Amino acid sequence: MNRKITVVGAGFVGATCAQRVVEKDLADVVLIDIAEGLPQGKALDIMESAPVEGFKAKIIGTNDYKETASSDVVVITAGIPRKPGMSRDDLQATNAGIVRGIVEKIAKHSPDAILILVTNPLDVMSYLALKVSGFEPRKVIGMAGVLDSARYRYFVARALSVSPDAAGAMVFGGHGDSMVPLTKYSTVNGKAITQLLPAEKIEAINKRTREGGAEIVGLLKTGSAYYAPSASAVDMLKSILLDEKRVLPCSVYLNGEYGINDVYCGVSAMLSGAGVEKIVELELTDEEKVLLERSARGVKENIKKLGLCA
Ligand code: NAI
Ligand code: 2OP
Repeated sequence: MNRKITVVGAGFVGATCAQRVVEKDLADVVLIDIAEGLPQGKALDIMESAPVEGFKAKIIGTNDYKETASSDVVVITAGIPRKPGMSRDDLQATNAGIVRGIVEKIAKHSPDAILILVTNPLDVMSYLALKVSGFEPRKVIGMAGVLDSARYRYFVARALSVSPDAAGAMVFGGHGDSMVPLTKYSTVNGKAITQLLPAEKIEAINKRTREGGAEIVGLLKTGSAYYAPSASAVDMLKSILLDEKRVLPCSVYLNGEYGINDVYCGVSAMLSGAGVEKIVELELTDEEKVLLERSARGVKENIKKLGLCA
C-alpha cells in the first residue's frame, strides 16, 4: 500500500509540493484547502499529467479533513505569503489563526502523523503546531534550513562555476534576517569555501542568502518563492518516508542543544521514519554561537507575542 501524505494549502507552495511528491512516486497525496474547487481542480490537473509523466501515485483534492485521515506525514503550507515590503513576522497574527485551526483538525484525524510546517513565520508556526497538536517534538518539524542552504549552495556554485549539487552548505538559525550561514561547513567537493573564495565574496553570499526570500518577493510582486521551497519540503519528506536518516538543516524543538531552550530554531537534524531521529550538534565558532543564540531569542520574542510561552 502506498504511503499517504496530506498537503494543507493548495496555493503555490502546496500544489507544487504535491506535484513533486507524485511525480517522484513517493506517496499518494491528499491536497486540502479552504477554497472550494481549488484543490480539486489542481489535483485533477496533476493527475491528467500522469500518462505523460508516467507516475503511478494518486492525488485527490478536497475541502474535507475526513479524507486526510491516517496520513503518515502532513505538510502545512496554508496561510498568507509576503508582499513586497513585508517581513515574514508581519504574517504572524493571521497565519497563527490559520495554522491553529488546521493543526487541531489534523491532530484529530491523523494522530500518528509527522508534521512538516512551511507557513511563515516558520519557527513560530512550528512551535505553535507543537503546542496545539500535543505531538512529541520529534514529530513536528519546520522547513527553512534546506531552502536557505539551497540558496547558499546555488550562489556558491555560481561564484565558482561548478554544478549546484557540488556545493554543500549549512544555514542555521531562525528563518529570517538573523539566519546564520556556517562558513566552515560550506564546501565545494569537500573543500571549505574559505579556501576557495575571498572573504568579501563570502560575505556577499551570506547577505544574499539572508535576503533570498525578499529578493524573490521583490521580483514576483504578488507572492513569494515556491519552486525552491517546495523542493526543500519534499527533500525532508523523502528522508522521512524512505527512512533515509539524512542530516538536514531544519527548524526543530531545542531542549538544551547549543544551550538553547524551549524554542524552534534551525539546526542540523537527522530525519528518519521517526521524524527527528536526533539533533546533530556541530562545533560552532564563538561568533556563530552568539549569532545562533541571538536568532533563537528573536524567535522566542515572537512566540511570546502569541502568549505561548513565558
Ligand atoms: P498561497 O497564497 O499561494 O497559498 C496559500 C493557500 O492557503 C491558499 O490556497 C489559501 O486558500 C490556503 N488557505 C488559507 N487559509 C486556509 C485554511 N484555513 N485551511 C486550508 N487552506 C487555507 O501562498 P504560498 O506561496 O503557497 O505560501 C504559503 C505559505 O508558505 C506562506 O505563509 C509563505 O510565507 C510560506 N512560505 C514559507 C517558506 C519557508 O521557507 N518556510 C517558503 C515559501 C513560502
Ligand atoms: C522564502 O524564504 C517566503 O520564507 C519564504 O522564500
